[in-house]
Amino acid sequence: MKVFELRFVISYIIVMSGLEEVAKRISEAGVVVISTGAGMSAPSGVPTFRGEDGMWKNYRAEELATPSAFRDNPTRVWEWYNWRREIIGECEPNAGHHAIVEMEEKVDEVEVVTQNVDGLHDRAGSSNIYEVHGNIWRVRCVGCERSEYNYDVPLEEIPLRCECGELLRPDVVWFGESLNEKVLREVYDIIGRCDLFINAGTSSLVMPASQFPVIASRSGAFVVEINLTETPMSNVVDLQLSGDVSEILPALVELV
Ligand code: OAD
Repeated sequence: MKVFELRFVISYIIVMSGLEEVAKRISEAGVVVISTGAGMSAPSGVPTFRGEDGMWKNYRAEELATPSAFRDNPTRVWEWYNWRREIIGECEPNAGHHAIVEMEEKVDEVEVVTQNVDGLHDRAGSSNIYEVHGNIWRVRCVGCERSEYNYDVPLEEIPLRCECGELLRPDVVWFGESLNEKVLREVYDIIGRCDLFINAGTSSLVMPASQFPVIASRSGAFVVEINLTETPMSNVVDLQLSGDVSEILPALVELV
């Protein structure tokens, strides 16, 4: 056998044994938490935040997804959201989202904690979803706090205004803002009692979601990472599955 063939066989064996180990953990688990980031939606065509495809008119997300950017120029921020809503509106849940839904048939409790605002887990049909960074299809008044779903693409007459006269903003969490306390409490509760925690397609760079695997590990859960690349969590997790979430998750669920 040639050297490169041998390398291929060895890496195949490593991947398969990792998949089998995690599949066994899934079958034995009472509660599985899957925490997802932009990499979960990337195979659906949603741009990631830190990839080149996430750029808009030479702005980085960090320059637009902030309260001060909205105060300075709400129209520009809404233009960016119109661009993102247009892309996301064309996207469908991928095989990874569907695999998470299928997992519900094999595990007592599957909880999805997502940093994604695209609503794709909901469209795939997951039952328990915590959208810790909000939802791009919801708008919220900066004055009276009223929020509602709005699926118009593109939104006309931006910046949008509430009936009360104040500006409407996307109902998402921006840099420098706190997460919804009630949602966060519920998330910490499920992380604290899960048997298996899967960190899927997130760079683990943004607090507090970046710390969820650490909390899960301290609470005794087996922690797995699925990602195309290494992350700051790669050394914390018990097992790393290197690859595309839309291939790994279906392969895993098939093995359970
Ligand atoms: P990032 O764009 O920071 O990271 C995406 C991660 O997904 C990277 O680690 C990629 O390697 C990985 N990835 C990409 N495609 C993948 C695939 N097909 N399979 C597996 N992994 C893949 O996105 P997030 O970690 O979600 O916050 O970023 C976290 C938060 O920062 C976002 O929710 C947003 C952002 O700025 C706010 O807007 C508050």
